[in-house]
Amino acid sequence: MSPRPAAEVTSRHFRDVLANYPTGVTVVTAIDAEGIPVGMAVGSFTSVSLVPPLVAFLPDKASTSFPRIRTAVSFCVNVLAADQEAICRKFAIRGGDKFAGVRWTPSPSGAPRLDGVAAWIDCEFHSISEAGDHYLVIGRVRELHTPGDRLPLVFFQGGYGRFAPLSLVAAPEDDVIGHLRFADLARPEMERLVATAGTECVALAPVNDQLVVLASAGAPADGSPFAMVGQRIPFVPPLGAPFLAWGDDAAVAAWLRRAEHPISPDERAAYLRQLTVVRSRGWSLSLGEDTPTGHAELVDAIDAPTSYDVWRLSMPVFAPDGSVPFMLTLWGLPRRLAGDKLLRLLDSLRVATGRITRSLSGIG
Ligand SMILES: Cc1cc2nc3c(=O)[nH]c(=O)nc-3n(C[C@H](O)[C@H](O)[C@H](O)COP(=O)(O)O)c2cc1C
Repeated sequence: MSPRPAAEVTSRHFRDVLANYPTGVTVVTAIDAEGIPVGMAVGSFTSVSLVPPLVAFLPDKASTSFPRIRTAVSFCVNVLAADQEAICRKFAIRGGDKFAGVRWTPSPSGAPRLDGVAAWIDCEFHSISEAGDHYLVIGRVRELHTPGDRLPLVFFQGGYGRFAPLSLVAAPEDDVIGHLRFADLARPEMERLVATAGTECVALAPVNDQLVVLASAGAPADGSPFAMVGQRIPFVPPLGAPFLAWGDDAAVAAWLRRAEHPISPDERAAYLRQLTVVRSRGWSLSLGEDTPTGHAELVDAIDAPTSYDVWRLSMPVFAPDGSVPFMLTLWGLPRRLAGDKLLRLLDSLRVATGRITRSLSGIG
Protein backbone atom coordinates (compact mmCIF):
# COMPACT_ATOMS: atom_id res chain seq x y z
CA MET A 1 0.00 0.00 0.00
CA SER A 2 1.39 3.42 -0.86
CA PRO A 3 1.66 5.88 2.01
CA ARG A 4 -1.09 8.50 2.32
CA PRO A 5 0.14 11.78 0.76
CA ALA A 6 0.97 14.36 3.45
CA ALA A 7 -1.53 17.19 3.75
CA GLU A 8 -0.08 20.52 2.68
CA VAL A 9 1.38 22.28 5.72
CA THR A 10 0.83 26.01 5.50
CA SER A 11 3.23 28.38 7.28
CA ARG A 12 0.33 29.79 9.27
CA HIS A 13 -0.79 26.38 10.50
CA PHE A 14 2.83 25.40 11.26
CA ARG A 15 3.34 28.54 13.38
CA ASP A 16 -0.02 28.17 15.18
CA VAL A 17 0.67 24.58 16.17
CA LEU A 18 4.35 25.05 17.06
CA ALA A 19 3.46 28.10 19.20
CA ASN A 20 2.06 25.59 21.69
CA TYR A 21 5.53 24.35 22.44
CA PRO A 22 6.89 26.74 25.12
CA THR A 23 10.53 27.79 24.90
CA GLY A 24 12.97 29.77 26.94
CA VAL A 25 14.33 32.94 25.38
CA THR A 26 18.00 33.59 24.68
CA VAL A 27 19.96 36.42 23.13
CA VAL A 28 22.85 35.14 21.02
CA THR A 29 25.62 37.74 21.01
CA ALA A 30 29.02 38.13 19.37
CA ILE A 31 31.66 40.72 18.45
CA ASP A 32 31.65 40.85 14.66
CA ALA A 33 34.69 41.10 12.37
CA GLU A 34 34.49 44.91 12.60
CA GLY A 35 34.70 44.71 16.41
CA ILE A 36 31.05 45.78 16.88
CA PRO A 37 28.68 43.97 19.28
CA VAL A 38 25.83 42.15 17.53
CA GLY A 39 22.94 40.08 18.88
CA MET A 40 19.55 38.58 18.18
CA ALA A 41 16.73 37.08 20.25
CA VAL A 42 16.62 33.32 19.73
CA GLY A 43 14.04 30.82 20.97
CA SER A 44 15.36 27.87 18.96
CA PHE A 45 18.29 27.28 21.33
CA THR A 46 18.78 23.68 22.47
CA SER A 47 21.40 21.43 24.01
CA VAL A 48 22.73 18.84 21.56
CA SER A 49 25.48 16.68 23.07
CA LEU A 50 27.06 16.12 26.48
CA VAL A 51 30.37 14.64 25.29
CA PRO A 52 31.55 16.71 23.56
CA PRO A 53 29.46 19.57 24.96
CA LEU A 54 27.46 20.92 22.00
CA VAL A 55 24.52 23.31 21.74
CA ALA A 56 22.56 24.60 18.75
CA PHE A 57 20.32 27.39 17.52
CA LEU A 58 18.56 28.11 14.24
CA PRO A 59 18.82 31.61 12.75
CA ASP A 60 16.51 32.61 9.89
CA LYS A 61 18.33 33.01 6.55
CA ALA A 62 16.60 36.43 6.36
CA SER A 63 18.23 37.62 9.60
CA THR A 64 20.53 40.61 9.12
CA SER A 65 22.29 39.96 12.45
CA PHE A 66 23.35 36.37 11.84
CA PRO A 67 25.61 37.12 8.83
CA ARG A 68 27.55 39.39 11.22
CA ILE A 69 27.48 36.86 14.10
CA ARG A 70 29.05 34.22 11.86
CA THR A 71 32.03 36.53 11.17
CA ALA A 72 32.94 36.35 14.89
CA VAL A 73 35.34 33.87 16.48
CA SER A 74 32.82 32.91 19.16
CA PHE A 75 29.30 33.59 20.38
CA CYS A 76 27.60 33.72 23.75
CA VAL A 77 24.09 32.38 24.43
CA ASN A 78 22.46 34.54 27.13
CA VAL A 79 19.46 32.81 28.76
CA LEU A 80 17.10 35.64 29.69
CA ALA A 81 15.65 35.87 33.19
CA ALA A 82 11.92 36.40 33.86
CA ASP A 83 12.36 40.19 34.30
CA GLN A 84 14.22 40.65 30.97
CA GLU A 85 11.32 40.81 28.53
CA ALA A 86 12.33 44.37 27.54
CA ILE A 87 15.79 43.11 26.55
CA CYS A 88 14.24 40.36 24.45
CA ARG A 89 12.10 42.91 22.59
CA LYS A 90 15.18 45.07 21.85
CA PHE A 91 17.05 42.13 20.36
CA ALA A 92 14.05 40.93 18.35
CA ILE A 93 13.88 44.17 16.32
CA ARG A 94 15.77 44.55 13.04
CA GLY A 95 18.28 47.38 12.91
CA GLY A 96 19.05 50.16 15.37
CA ASP A 97 21.55 49.95 18.21
CA LYS A 98 20.30 46.88 20.07
CA PHE A 99 22.93 47.32 22.80
CA ALA A 100 21.92 50.90 23.75
CA GLY A 101 21.24 50.94 27.49
CA VAL A 102 22.05 47.22 27.86
CA ARG A 103 24.75 46.43 30.41
CA TRP A 104 27.21 43.70 29.49
CA THR A 105 30.73 42.46 30.11
CA PRO A 106 32.90 40.33 27.81
CA SER A 107 32.51 36.54 28.24
CA PRO A 108 35.75 34.51 28.53
CA SER A 109 35.84 34.32 24.70
CA GLY A 110 35.07 38.06 24.38
CA ALA A 111 31.42 37.86 23.27
CA PRO A 112 28.91 40.13 25.09
CA ARG A 113 27.60 38.57 28.31
CA LEU A 114 24.46 40.44 29.36
CA ASP A 115 24.00 41.43 33.01
CA GLY A 116 21.26 39.72 35.02
CA VAL A 117 20.79 36.62 32.82
CA ALA A 118 19.68 33.24 34.22
CA ALA A 119 22.63 31.50 32.54
CA TRP A 120 25.24 32.07 29.85
CA ILE A 121 26.94 29.60 27.53
CA ASP A 122 30.12 30.69 25.74
CA CYS A 123 30.76 28.84 22.47
CA GLU A 124 32.99 28.42 19.45
CA PHE A 125 31.43 27.62 16.08
CA HIS A 126 31.38 23.85 15.50
CA SER A 127 29.35 23.79 12.28
CA ILE A 128 26.84 25.78 10.24
CA SER A 129 24.56 23.90 7.87
CA GLU A 130 21.41 24.73 5.94
CA ALA A 131 18.01 23.60 7.19
CA GLY A 132 15.21 24.84 4.90
CA ASP A 133 14.85 28.60 5.29
CA HIS A 134 17.07 28.55 8.42
CA TYR A 135 20.65 27.65 9.29
CA LEU A 136 21.46 25.05 11.91
CA VAL A 137 24.35 26.42 13.97
CA ILE A 138 26.10 24.02 16.31
CA GLY A 139 28.38 25.50 18.95
CA ARG A 140 31.10 23.82 20.97
CA VAL A 141 30.70 24.97 24.58
CA ARG A 142 33.83 26.50 26.07
CA GLU A 143 32.53 27.94 29.33
CA LEU A 144 29.14 28.25 30.95
CA HIS A 145 27.66 29.47 34.19
CA THR A 146 24.40 30.08 36.03
CA PRO A 147 23.97 32.17 39.17
CA GLY A 148 21.29 29.56 39.99
CA ASP A 149 18.88 32.00 41.60
CA ARG A 150 16.93 33.38 38.60
CA LEU A 151 13.76 32.05 37.02
CA PRO A 152 13.79 32.09 33.19
CA LEU A 153 11.69 34.13 30.78
CA VAL A 154 9.30 31.84 28.89
CA PHE A 155 7.76 32.33 25.41
CA PHE A 156 4.45 30.61 24.63
CA GLN A 157 1.75 31.23 22.00
CA GLY A 158 3.41 34.52 21.04
CA GLY A 159 3.42 35.87 24.61
CA TYR A 160 5.89 36.13 27.45
CA GLY A 161 5.53 34.48 30.83
CA ARG A 162 7.51 33.00 33.63
CA PHE A 163 8.00 29.50 34.96
CA ALA A 164 5.80 28.77 37.98
CA PRO A 165 6.29 25.29 39.39
CA LEU A 166 3.00 23.63 40.35
CA SER A 167 4.92 21.07 42.30
CA LEU A 168 8.46 19.76 42.47
CA VAL A 169 9.62 16.25 43.27
CA ALA A 170 12.87 15.23 44.96
CA ALA A 171 15.74 13.84 42.89
CA PRO A 172 15.70 10.02 42.90
CA GLU A 173 18.50 9.27 45.35
CA ASP A 174 18.92 5.58 46.16
CA ASP A 175 17.20 5.55 49.55
CA VAL A 176 14.22 7.69 48.46
CA ILE A 177 13.40 6.02 45.11
CA GLY A 178 10.83 3.76 46.78
CA HIS A 179 9.17 6.77 48.36
CA LEU A 180 8.88 8.82 45.19
CA ARG A 181 5.82 6.90 44.01
CA PHE A 182 4.10 8.51 47.02
CA ALA A 183 5.12 11.92 45.71
CA ASP A 184 3.54 11.12 42.32
CA LEU A 185 0.34 10.00 44.03
CA ALA A 186 0.22 13.05 46.24
CA ARG A 187 0.97 15.78 43.70
CA PRO A 188 -2.51 16.33 42.21
CA GLU A 189 -3.99 16.54 45.71
CA MET A 190 -1.19 18.84 46.90
CA GLU A 191 -1.78 21.16 43.95
CA ARG A 192 -5.52 21.24 44.67
CA LEU A 193 -4.84 21.85 48.35
CA VAL A 194 -2.50 24.83 47.87
CA ALA A 195 -5.01 26.48 45.54
CA THR A 196 -7.35 26.87 48.53
CA ALA A 197 -4.85 26.90 51.42
CA GLY A 198 -2.75 29.67 49.82
CA THR A 199 0.53 28.46 51.30
CA GLU A 200 3.18 25.83 50.61
CA CYS A 201 2.43 22.13 51.09
CA VAL A 202 5.19 19.55 51.37
CA ALA A 203 5.13 15.75 51.45
CA LEU A 204 7.54 14.46 54.11
CA ALA A 205 8.61 10.83 54.54
CA PRO A 206 10.81 9.13 57.12
CA VAL A 207 13.88 7.63 55.46
CA ASN A 208 16.12 5.89 58.00
CA ASP A 209 16.91 8.49 60.68
CA GLN A 210 15.84 11.47 58.59
CA LEU A 211 12.74 13.15 57.29
CA VAL A 212 12.98 13.83 53.56
CA VAL A 213 11.02 16.50 51.67
CA LEU A 214 9.66 14.32 48.83
CA ALA A 215 7.63 16.97 47.03
CA SER A 216 6.43 20.53 47.36
CA ALA A 217 3.58 22.57 45.89
CA GLY A 218 2.64 26.24 46.17
CA ALA A 219 4.54 29.07 47.86
CA PRO A 220 4.85 29.96 51.56
CA ALA A 221 2.19 32.55 52.51
CA ASP A 222 4.49 34.35 54.95
CA GLY A 223 7.18 34.99 52.31
CA SER A 224 9.66 32.62 53.98
CA PRO A 225 11.95 30.59 51.67
CA PHE A 226 10.51 27.59 49.80
CA ALA A 227 11.10 24.15 51.30
CA MET A 228 14.05 22.56 49.55
CA VAL A 229 12.79 19.48 47.74
CA GLY A 230 15.12 16.59 48.61
CA GLN A 231 16.15 18.32 51.85
CA ARG A 232 16.77 16.02 54.81
CA ILE A 233 15.76 17.03 58.32
CA PRO A 234 16.87 15.12 61.45
CA PHE A 235 14.01 12.81 62.52
CA VAL A 236 14.28 13.69 66.22
CA PRO A 237 11.69 14.72 68.84
CA PRO A 238 9.47 16.70 68.52
CA LEU A 239 9.69 16.45 64.68
CA GLY A 240 7.75 13.80 62.78
CA ALA A 241 5.26 13.04 65.58
CA PRO A 242 2.59 11.70 63.12
CA PHE A 243 4.96 8.89 62.07
CA LEU A 244 5.28 7.77 65.70
CA ALA A 245 1.71 8.42 66.83
CA TRP A 246 0.69 5.37 64.75
CA GLY A 247 4.09 3.64 65.09
CA ASP A 248 5.13 0.75 67.32
CA ASP A 249 6.89 1.04 70.68
CA ALA A 250 10.30 0.20 69.20
CA ALA A 251 10.03 3.07 66.69
CA VAL A 252 8.97 5.48 69.46
CA ALA A 253 11.87 4.35 71.68
CA ALA A 254 14.35 4.82 68.81
CA TRP A 255 12.90 8.30 68.10
CA LEU A 256 13.32 9.31 71.77
CA ARG A 257 16.91 7.97 71.77
CA ARG A 258 17.70 10.21 68.78
CA ALA A 259 16.81 13.36 70.78
CA GLU A 260 19.49 16.02 70.37
CA HIS A 261 20.24 15.99 74.11
CA PRO A 262 19.51 13.45 76.88
CA ILE A 263 15.85 13.90 77.76
CA SER A 264 14.53 14.13 81.31
CA PRO A 265 11.63 11.92 82.51
CA ASP A 266 9.37 15.00 82.29
CA GLU A 267 10.34 15.68 78.67
CA ARG A 268 9.85 12.02 77.85
CA ALA A 269 6.36 12.13 79.35
CA ALA A 270 5.60 15.34 77.38
CA TYR A 271 6.71 13.75 74.08
CA LEU A 272 4.63 10.62 74.75
CA ARG A 273 1.61 12.78 75.61
CA GLN A 274 2.24 14.68 72.34
CA LEU A 275 1.98 11.39 70.41
CA THR A 276 -1.27 10.48 72.20
CA VAL A 277 -2.77 13.88 71.33
CA VAL A 278 -1.70 13.65 67.68
CA ARG A 279 -3.19 10.16 67.41
CA SER A 280 -6.48 11.07 69.06
CA ARG A 281 -7.20 14.16 66.97
CA GLY A 282 -5.50 12.99 63.73
CA TRP A 283 -3.21 15.94 63.06
CA SER A 284 -0.12 17.68 64.38
CA LEU A 285 0.27 21.38 64.97
CA SER A 286 3.46 23.33 65.70
CA LEU A 287 3.03 26.77 67.12
CA GLY A 288 5.46 29.67 66.65
CA GLU A 289 8.81 29.81 68.32
CA ASP A 290 7.59 31.94 71.22
CA THR A 291 5.68 28.88 72.46
CA PRO A 292 7.66 25.91 73.83
CA THR A 293 7.43 23.36 71.01
CA GLY A 294 6.91 20.46 73.43
CA HIS A 295 3.70 22.06 74.56
CA ALA A 296 2.50 23.19 71.17
CA GLU A 297 0.84 19.86 70.47
CA LEU A 298 -1.13 20.17 73.68
CA VAL A 299 -3.63 22.51 72.03
CA ASP A 300 -6.41 19.92 72.10
CA ALA A 301 -9.08 21.83 70.23
CA ILE A 302 -9.07 24.88 67.97
CA ASP A 303 -11.21 27.72 69.15
CA ALA A 304 -12.69 29.65 66.17
CA PRO A 305 -12.47 33.20 67.65
CA THR A 306 -8.86 32.77 68.89
CA SER A 307 -5.76 33.60 66.79
CA TYR A 308 -2.91 31.11 66.61
CA ASP A 309 0.73 31.59 65.71
CA VAL A 310 0.83 28.40 63.65
CA TRP A 311 4.09 27.33 62.14
CA ARG A 312 3.28 23.94 60.66
CA LEU A 313 0.17 21.84 60.30
CA SER A 314 0.64 18.15 59.42
CA MET A 315 -1.67 15.25 58.66
CA PRO A 316 -0.75 11.62 57.99
CA VAL A 317 -1.44 9.47 54.95
CA PHE A 318 -2.06 5.80 55.80
CA ALA A 319 -0.85 2.61 54.13
CA PRO A 320 -2.94 -0.62 53.95
CA ASP A 321 -1.22 -1.90 57.15
CA GLY A 322 -2.23 1.26 59.07
CA SER A 323 1.32 2.68 59.13
CA VAL A 324 2.13 6.23 58.03
CA PRO A 325 4.42 6.19 54.96
CA PHE A 326 4.34 9.99 54.55
CA MET A 327 2.49 13.07 55.67
CA LEU A 328 1.38 16.35 54.17
CA THR A 329 2.51 19.50 55.96
CA LEU A 330 1.32 23.06 55.37
CA TRP A 331 4.02 25.51 56.23
CA GLY A 332 4.87 29.17 55.85
CA LEU A 333 1.37 29.93 57.19
CA PRO A 334 0.68 33.60 57.91
CA ARG A 335 1.43 34.69 61.46
CA ARG A 336 -1.62 35.16 63.74
CA LEU A 337 -3.98 32.82 61.95
CA ALA A 338 -7.63 33.06 63.01
CA GLY A 339 -9.05 29.87 64.53
CA ASP A 340 -11.87 29.60 61.96
CA LYS A 341 -9.33 29.83 59.09
CA LEU A 342 -7.24 27.17 60.80
CA LEU A 343 -10.30 24.91 61.05
CA ARG A 344 -10.90 25.35 57.30
CA LEU A 345 -7.26 24.48 56.60
CA LEU A 346 -7.67 21.33 58.67
CA ASP A 347 -10.76 20.38 56.64
CA SER A 348 -8.87 20.87 53.33
CA LEU A 349 -5.92 18.87 54.64
CA ARG A 350 -8.29 16.10 55.80
CA VAL A 351 -9.87 15.90 52.31
CA ALA A 352 -6.45 15.74 50.59
CA THR A 353 -4.90 13.13 52.90
CA GLY A 354 -8.17 11.12 52.89
CA ARG A 355 -8.16 10.94 49.09
CA ILE A 356 -4.49 9.91 48.95
CA THR A 357 -5.04 7.29 51.67
CA ARG A 358 -7.95 5.85 49.67
CA SER A 359 -5.86 5.76 46.47
CA LEU A 360 -3.27 3.75 48.43
CA SER A 361 -6.05 1.47 49.80
CA GLY A 362 -4.82 2.68 53.16
CA ILE A 363 -6.49 2.21 56.51
CA GLY A 364 -6.43 5.10 58.96
C1 LIG B 1 10.94 34.95 21.57
C2 LIG B 1 11.63 35.09 20.24
C3 LIG B 1 12.33 34.03 19.72
C4 LIG B 1 12.96 34.14 18.48
N1 LIG B 1 13.65 33.08 18.00
C5 LIG B 1 14.29 33.19 16.81
C6 LIG B 1 15.06 32.10 16.29
O1 LIG B 1 15.14 31.03 16.90
N2 LIG B 1 15.66 32.26 15.10
C7 LIG B 1 15.57 33.43 14.40
O2 LIG B 1 16.14 33.53 13.34
N3 LIG B 1 14.86 34.47 14.88
C8 LIG B 1 14.24 34.38 16.05
N4 LIG B 1 13.52 35.43 16.55
C9 LIG B 1 13.44 36.64 15.75
C10 LIG B 1 14.71 37.42 15.79
O3 LIG B 1 15.10 37.80 17.07
C11 LIG B 1 14.53 38.67 14.95
O4 LIG B 1 13.88 38.34 13.78
C12 LIG B 1 15.80 39.24 14.55
O5 LIG B 1 16.54 39.65 15.64
C13 LIG B 1 15.51 40.39 13.62
O6 LIG B 1 16.63 41.16 13.48
P1 LIG B 1 17.91 40.87 12.61
O7 LIG B 1 17.59 41.11 11.18
O8 LIG B 1 18.80 41.86 13.22
O9 LIG B 1 18.37 39.46 12.83
C14 LIG B 1 12.90 35.35 17.76
C15 LIG B 1 12.19 36.42 18.31
C16 LIG B 1 11.55 36.30 19.52
C17 LIG B 1 10.80 37.46 20.09
